Amino acid sequence: TGLFTYDPGFTSTGSCESKITYIDGDAGVLRHRGYAIEDLAENCDFLEVAHLLLRGELPNAAERDTFESTITHHTMVHEQLTRFYQGFRRDAHPMAIMCGVVGALSAFYHDSLDINDPHHRMVSQHRLIAKMPTIAAWAYKYSTGQPFMYPKNNLSYAENFLHMMFATPCDEYKVNPVLAKAMDRILILHADHEQNASTSTVRLAGSSGANPFACIAAGIASLWGPAHGGANEAVLKMLSEIGHKDRIPEFIKRAKDKNDSFRLMGFGHRVYKNYDPRAKIMSQTCKEVLDELGVHDEPLLQIAMELERIALEDEYFVEKKLYPNVDFYSGIIFRAMGIPVSMFTCLFALARTTGWIAQWGEMIEDPHQKIGRPRQLFTGVAERKFVALADRP
Ligand code: CMC
Repeated sequence: TGLFTYDPGFTSTGSCESKITYIDGDAGVLRHRGYAIEDLAENCDFLEVAHLLLRGELPNAAERDTFESTITHHTMVHEQLTRFYQGFRRDAHPMAIMCGVVGALSAFYHDSLDINDPHHRMVSQHRLIAKMPTIAAWAYKYSTGQPFMYPKNNLSYAENFLHMMFATPCDEYKVNPVLAKAMDRILILHADHEQNASTSTVRLAGSSGANPFACIAAGIASLWGPAHGGANEAVLKMLSEIGHKDRIPEFIKRAKDKNDSFRLMGFGHRVYKNYDPRAKIMSQTCKEVLDELGVHDEPLLQIAMELERIALEDEYFVEKKLYPNVDFYSGIIFRAMGIPVSMFTCLFALARTTGWIAQWGEMIEDPHQKIGRPRQLFTGVAERKFVALADRP
């Protein structure tokens, strides 16, 4: 156009500078602040990774303890919010509840409006990371009609989430350490992924100086779609619909058919043109969790593995460089843990909040930051003569 570049889907537009996450999509590499995702997933816990994303460095032992007690200090949500939940229909999708409740937090923390104060920004970041497990678990509890379980601050971040999901006032939930470790790893794998749709949404919303809690609600909305975080829910539905290995070719055929809108969910990525490194760790974790639970013939896992094998040998998927992404195996793990399908994307949101709010903080501190304001190619009618209501045909 001369004035600007038309780039639908921002496939070749860099919108910001960032020091947080590096992806080499051709090589299948993902690093946070220089550390390989494989090393972080193997050796760290989620709060160490959250510290890394927010502060730029892995914490030493003392810093880790301080960070954990800072986060646990904020795990409760305002008691009035319990009544806010009551306003939703019981069958509301938990992502709808998450959007609403996280957006409503902006009405509780007026100090977070002072985004130019580094201390206020940091407190908002801590509050969000701390409260998301509570908010997500309560969205589930509300759907079941069970009482909300308050956080237990002697538990780890992942354990606490499982406790709030599955404990009741009558029954203590004994957190299985293997499952808690797997949950923690899954949270790490989802923590950040540079300028994806939801992160860009958070940055765009925040670029006007908006309240950070409201910006995260915008990110949750963007994540919900099946082309993004909603894919983990869609994968499980797809695997259930396939139902048997014999039907895989039929679905592969549909995915390749340009006249059919069906796509293999959990396959393909805007940036990765190679195996998504998170999917590799996820498939390993999936096997570990099923082993621990003594599930040896999970039919959905069998279908997923066979689907992956067939797709990776198929010319269409090879040519278009479509590989399994992070969402392909996560749903099978969640299901095995007893997490209902409608909660899958909430888990993604809870983990990604750390990345969102770290990226938001980086944006606010960036001296080049301006309000995000894309241009358009106008394709409508250029000019018309006005017709009074009485004279319109
Ligand atoms: N199944 C069949 N064909 C596909 C698929 C798929 N899953 N993904 C892409 N293609 C084809 C697509 O039809 C297109 O073909 P052609 O060039 O002939 O028109 C080509 O591959 C490129 O696809 P695109 O839609 O232009 O690529 P994109 O970068 O805009 O989309 C994507 C990336 C992730 C949205 C897409 O691959 C997709 O819809 N995948 C399924 C949903 C999914 O798993 N999403 C999770 C993404 S990773 C985690 C996250 O972000 O939350």
